[in-house]
Amino acid sequence: MEKAFGAVAVLRGVDLSVRQGEIHALLGENGAGKSTLMRILLGAESADRCRMKLAGEPYAPAAPGAAQRAGVVMVPQERTLCPHMTVLENVVLGLEPARAGFVRRGAARAIAERALGLVTGVGRRIPLDVRAGSLSVADQQLVEIARALAQGGAAADASSQHGPSAKVLVLDEPTASLGQDDAARLFTRVHALKAAGLAVVLVTHFLGDVRAHADRYTVLRDGKVQGEGDPKVTPAEQIVREMLGRELEAARDEPRQAPRAGERREESVVLDVEALGGLERPRSATFVLRRGEVLGIAGLVGSGRTELLRMIAGLDARGKGTVRVRAERGVGLLSEDRGGEGLMLARSIAENVTLSRRGTFVSRPGALLADGARWIAELSIKASGPAQAAGELSGGNQQKVQLARLLREDYDVLLIDEPTRGIDIASKAQVLALVRELAQRGKGIVLVSSQLDELVSTCDRIAVLRRGELGAARPASEWTEETLLLEASS
Ligand SMILES: Nc1ncnc2c1ncn2[C@@H]1O[C@H](COP(=O)(O)OP(=O)(O)OP(=O)(O)O)[C@@H](O)[C@H]1O
Ligand SMILES: [Mg+2]
Repeated sequence: MEKAFGAVAVLRGVDLSVRQGEIHALLGENGAGKSTLMRILLGAESADRCRMKLAGEPYAPAAPGAAQRAGVVMVPQERTLCPHMTVLENVVLGLEPARAGFVRRGAARAIAERALGLVTGVGRRIPLDVRAGSLSVADQQLVEIARALAQGGAAADASSQHGPSAKVLVLDEPTASLGQDDAARLFTRVHALKAAGLAVVLVTHFLGDVRAHADRYTVLRDGKVQGEGDPKVTPAEQIVREMLGRELEAARDEPRQAPRAGERREESVVLDVEALGGLERPRSATFVLRRGEVLGIAGLVGSGRTELLRMIAGLDARGKGTVRVRAERGVGLLSEDRGGEGLMLARSIAENVTLSRRGTFVSRPGALLADGARWIAELSIKASGPAQAAGELSGGNQQKVQLARLLREDYDVLLIDEPTRGIDIASKAQVLALVRELAQRGKGIVLVSSQLDELVSTCDRIAVLRRGELGAARPASEWTEETLLLEASS
């Protein structure tokens, strides 16, 4: 398969074969071409040259509808549910009415129920008539998969109780927003779909998941296949080398400087949060954040971490408690829910990085591009240059642009929610090093992450949010991933 955008070749002679009843991991750095390849498979993008076969028959979908009819469906990287619509409406949204002739509501319900049954398994139900936005992130993810299966005809014949009739299911980074438990549950269901005969293509940056769950893997780098095999027998170092084209630099394990005595003085406190509670979660959070420190907040998905940050930033109503910001240049938030929404997709990377909410716009075009170029280098954003439109970047690289915008601003306090989500393994280390560097330059940083290893390696202190209550912050050196997980889920 070949694909170029303008003069840029994105896929160069890629061969990929996925077998029925296997989980096939598609790996590669941000911008390697994974999503593009999958969009071609889905008929959402056209290749310049390609030959595909599905179940032995020539396959050339001209549009997503054609792929769906052939049983090839995808849960895309960016979330697509309409939060204000019901689960039922979301699952059947976009189904061709002719397919099941379901102008009748009853048929639509049957289709949705069957598709949801495939993803929840027995003993669990996701109600059809609640708003999708009221579900947990993990359940929303299941609804996304159910919708894809319904589109692939999984439920076309609602009376048949046998496996899904979709043939190929593509999951583009399905666990990026999930905690460990929810991710494990999701994989249980993916294995069930595989056992029912589906071919599952899994796009992910989590090598651990690949080794635990995938039967085969293919690595893309610079639009070419760089390696393939069985991830259970291939050494992890080899897969990483295939992805990066080099060894992963050992994480810099410099001991963190112990805070100097002076920094413990009261006036170095930049953020003072007392008994803060929201309408639902969190119920109570108390902590102080000092200049030059990274305070980590651990907690399960749904424990209220994101809500806590939003309340501090003043985006959500506070139920009770106080927030005192003792910093001239205020508080900046990188929200968890990025998904490209914060970007002006038609504008250049440089404009997106520099155009801030506070209006400190760099007006000279030369300076603007130079600033953009600096951030492209700082965060290894894969782009043709600072003038490229943000909408043309891969998912992970769009996230880096949003991160750059926040980091570039001179806030004293940074609230950073899941900064490495969707970001490849080499860039993760870079982003975290930058967070440390900003702290060293005197900023106070609150870091929320589901990746416990990130918290342990990056933070000075960590507090655990459990059932809405934030525990006392303790030095990161006193925590391990295991004790954090135990505390969060106890
Ligand atoms: N519409 C477009 N115009 C120009 N370039 C594009 C367009 N869409 C994608 N690209 C480029 O194609 C390359 C591959 O992008 P793709 O989204 O496939 O990467 P990916 O492997 O999915 O990365 P990620 O892990 O970040 O999601 C990127 O360099 C991207 O900038
Ligand atoms: Mg992608």
